[in-house]
Amino acid sequence: MTKSLDMMQDIERVLISEEELHRRIREMGVELTREYAGKNPLVVGILRGVVPFFAEMALSISTPCQWDFLSVSSYDGAASSGKLTFRKDLDIDIKDRHVLILEDILDSGRTLTYIRELLLQRGPASLKICTLLDKPSGRNVELEADYTCFTIPGAFVVGYGLDYNDDYRNLPFVGVLKPSVYEK
Ligand code: IMP
Ligand code: MG
Repeated sequence: MTKSLDMMQDIERVLISEEELHRRIREMGVELTREYAGKNPLVVGILRGVVPFFAEMALSISTPCQWDFLSVSSYDGAASSGKLTFRKDLDIDIKDRHVLILEDILDSGRTLTYIRELLLQRGPASLKICTLLDKPSGRNVELEADYTCFTIPGAFVVGYGLDYNDDYRNLPFVGVLKPSVYEK
């Protein structure tokens, strides 16, 4: 499939620059290293939007740990479809493990509530959530992240892993997508 997409043309404004992302993630990595020292945590990434954040954060955590990934889907375009699909489960057993979930964005809270409840049934020693972005205005279930890198306003954002219909993930910053793109 060929596509002509001028990514920069579709961005209203840069919300978080590359430099700010790197600085804040490294800072959070220092905090998480302290928090999880000696606990041999299992760091779990929620695919696919988390990939750039995961890569940077996982290298900023300098205490021994393992990585695993799972995948669910709740979004269709810019509006939540409300339906959750479980696509890939973890490979590693989390019983008695300290699990740290990394997620790209916490919006309505439905995705992480679903994942949290599912993983809690497996008896981890602890289960915490670290999100790159938190959009509190979108929340419709009660859920807070244990660690938040950036709190953002209620706009639809793309870049640094975040997508609109799988596009724009490779923008190196977080930007607000022009509403005209998804209102088409
Ligand atoms: P929640 O279940 O509503 O909290 O949504 C979480 C998921 O929705 C994230 O993992 C993203 O894939 C997607 N999402 C929510 N808000 C945005 C956004 O502003 N841009 C891109 N994806 C988003
Ligand atoms: Mg997505």
